[in-house]
Amino acid sequence: MRVNRRGVAMLATLISVLACSPADEPTPPAAGQSAADRRAGAPGIGDADFPRDGNGGYDVSHYDLVVDYTPATKRLDGVTTISASATQELSSFNLDLTGLDVREVAVNDAPATFTRKGDELTVRPARAIADQAPFTVRVTYTGLPKPANDNANLGTYGFIPTPDGAFVASEPNGSKTWFPGNDHPADKATFDFTITVPAGVTALANGEMTGQPTTSGGKTTYRWRERHPMATYLATATLGKFDLRQGSTAAGIPNLAAADPRFKSSLDSLYTLSGQITDYWATVFGPYPFSSTGGVVDDYSAGYALENQTKPLYGGFQPDETIIAHELAHQWFGNSLTIRRWKDLWLNEGFATYAEWLWAEHKGTRTAEATFKDLQSRPATDPMWKYPPGRAKPDDLFNQSVYTRGGMTLHALRRAIGDPVFFTLLKAWTAEHRYGHVTTEQFVALAERLSGKNLDALFDAWLFQPRKPS
Ligand code: TRP
Ligand code: ZN
Repeated sequence: MRVNRRGVAMLATLISVLACSPADEPTPPAAGQSAADRRAGAPGIGDADFPRDGNGGYDVSHYDLVVDYTPATKRLDGVTTISASATQELSSFNLDLTGLDVREVAVNDAPATFTRKGDELTVRPARAIADQAPFTVRVTYTGLPKPANDNANLGTYGFIPTPDGAFVASEPNGSKTWFPGNDHPADKATFDFTITVPAGVTALANGEMTGQPTTSGGKTTYRWRERHPMATYLATATLGKFDLRQGSTAAGIPNLAAADPRFKSSLDSLYTLSGQITDYWATVFGPYPFSSTGGVVDDYSAGYALENQTKPLYGGFQPDETIIAHELAHQWFGNSLTIRRWKDLWLNEGFATYAEWLWAEHKGTRTAEATFKDLQSRPATDPMWKYPPGRAKPDDLFNQSVYTRGGMTLHALRRAIGDPVFFTLLKAWTAEHRYGHVTTEQFVALAERLSGKNLDALFDAWLFQPRKPS
C-alpha cells in the first residue's frame, strides 16, 4: 500500500494529509478542538470502520483486572490497572468504557481528573506523560454492566448477566461493557484476573489459575492469568455454577472443560473433543500457541460460540465437533495471529470455517473439495456472491460470506498451489506472526512467496469482487 503511494504526486499526498487521515493513522481530534489539544491522545485507534474503537497515543502491555460481582444484585465493583507506554506526549488520553460509574482514576498512582462522553473516558493526568514513557492508569468503578447490541447482525454481546452469574463474550468491541481499556484488537496485552463471587459460584477467565481459589466471608476469589498477548474482545470472566473436568490432552496440554449443570451431559464430550482437536490442529497449524485449552458451556442461550482465548465459550447448546474445531482453530487464527483492522475478519472466520472442513476431511466424513464444490454450485444470485469477504463491512461484519466464501478462498488457493505448499503455508503463516498482528496483504504475499506464483487474480476474484468467481 505504502509502496504504491510513493508514486503518487506530492500534491495528492499533501491534500490527503490535510483533508483526511489514511486508515492506518489515529483518528484526528474532532473539528472544533483547539491546537492546545494536540497532545491529547486520539479517541480512536485508527480503524476507519470503527472510528471510536480503541484509542491513540499509547500501547497497553498488561491489564490487571480486579472484579467483584454479585449475581443477585448484578452489581460489579472493579479496579482495572493498565500498564502502558506512551507513543506520543500525552496531556490526556482516552479509555473505552460503556456505562458504569467511575469513582477514581490515578495515573502513576497520582489522582487524575476525568470526563465521560459516550463510550469514551478521557483521563487527564496531573502532569503530561512524556512520549515513550511507561505509565500506569488505575480506574476504580462500579455499577450494573449492560451488554452491547449496537450492530445489526451481532446480537447481544459483552458482559451478559445470567441468573447464576454472567456470560462474557465481547467480540468485536464489548470488553468496554465490563472494564476500561483500549478496546480494539490492534492493541494486545497480557491479563491478570482477580475475580470475587459469592461462594458456590465459579469464575472462569482466560489462561490458567495462579493458585487455589480462596474463600472468606461467604465470597470466593479466583485468580487467573493469561500470559500471552490477548485482544480485549477475547477476555472473559464467565461466572456461574459449573461442573469441571480437568486434565491434559494426549500431547500434554492442560485441558479444562466446564459445563453449566443444565449441560452436564456435554462435559465429557467437550473435554475429550477439545483435547483431540487441539492436538490435531497443532499437527496441521503448528505448535499450540497458549498454555492451556478447553471450553465452557453456559446455559445462556446465545446460540453462538466465541473463541475466548484458551477457553472458547458455547452459549446454550451442546457443542459438536464442528463448532469445537472452529473455535479451537481460532486459537491460531484470530487469537495468536490477530487482525489489525476489522475489515480483514476473513483471516479469522474464513480460516476457522476452512478448519471445519479440514476436520471433516480428517475424520473421513467429507472432503473439503466436496464441501467447496457443493457451495460453488450455489446460483449466481446467492447473496454470498455479492458480498466480497476480503472487506468485511462494519454494519454487516459477521456476514456469512466472511465465513463461507472466506473458507472457499482458502480451498481455491489450495487447489491452485497444491497440498504440499498449502499446508506448508499454513504453518509458515502461524510461525511468522505468532502472537502478532496480520493483514490480508501479508497473507497474499506469503502465499505468493512460498508458491512462486502470482495469485493476485485468484485473491481478487475470491476476496474482493461482488460476483461469483468462475
Ligand atoms: N467469532 C464468533 C465465531 O464465529 C462469532 C461472534 C461474533 C460472536 N461476535 C460475537 C460470538 C459475539 C459471541 C459474541 O466463532
Ligand atoms: Zn469464528
